Amino acid sequence: MDYQALIEEVYKEVQNENPRGKVADYIPELAHVDGNQFGIALVDLEGNVFGVGDYQTPFSIQSVSKVHTLTMVFHVFKSKLWSRVNVEPSGNPFNSIAQLEYEKGIPRNPFINAGALVITDALCSKFDRPFHQISDFINELSGHQCVLMNPEVKQSEQNHAERNTALAYFLKAYKNFENKVEDVLDVYFSQCAIEMSCTDLAKSFSFLANDGYSIFANREIVSESHARRINALMLTCGFYDESGEFAFRVGLPGKSGVGGGIAAVMPHKFSIAVWCPELNEKGNSVKSIKALELLTDKLKFSLF
Ligand code: DON
Repeated sequence: MDYQALIEEVYKEVQNENPRGKVADYIPELAHVDGNQFGIALVDLEGNVFGVGDYQTPFSIQSVSKVHTLTMVFHVFKSKLWSRVNVEPSGNPFNSIAQLEYEKGIPRNPFINAGALVITDALCSKFDRPFHQISDFINELSGHQCVLMNPEVKQSEQNHAERNTALAYFLKAYKNFENKVEDVLDVYFSQCAIEMSCTDLAKSFSFLANDGYSIFANREIVSESHARRINALMLTCGFYDESGEFAFRVGLPGKSGVGGGIAAVMPHKFSIAVWCPELNEKGNSVKSIKALELLTDKLKFSLF
């Protein structure tokens, strides 16, 4: 399979159609990003990188980081983790508060904001220097020092932290939050403000295409059974209330972020990261979804 030709064809078709969305502005610093940027990087299981467009430009990975933190925490807590966070699609916006109340402080899944805050709280309970360890982990998965945290993006989100702060206190009210709210939010906003290129992001997801073994870190990151479960969660919950549609149109486990990035995996074949900052009303990148849909259509296979 000529992956370079494939992603170039996909890139050209998406650019010709030019579907548009709106750059996230609820984090004001993200509103300044040029919405015309668009890149694709595909990494095969031999470590070959294929790229097109702005695939080497670092961007704000935002919620894609929730896969990295889930991986760290799942590895430590194993199945005990699922007493604190569920594994069901939420069918609600990523920052919804309502469901958390009627489900008594157990978030639907680790990828909505409430669930990700529980994961970061668990991480803070087990790791001495949580954000350093998150950065080290992602650097290791990508095979080199690539993680940068953008302090302006972090500050911008901290200035508008009402919903995430409310979610954290709600979790605390239900005794599902161990650490100080401001300490956990500090780590959470830092992880969301990480910037990486499509290439490095795709590399950091490679272990999920490879039964838990990272060829860039040269070690097993998680067991094959954990890798399968993280992929199942990405397939069912990786796109919030658009997860069903992504599974229907693309058919790959993946995770989106409001920076416009999507990382996805084709188990036993490759990992891929696509980035274009303009989002649809669900907070997912319009061009990135279109590109992945064309990719699996042209390949004539997905998970299914
Ligand atoms: O907490 C937030 O709202 C953002 N830092 C992350 C949200 C996000 O990326 C959701 N993605 N689609």
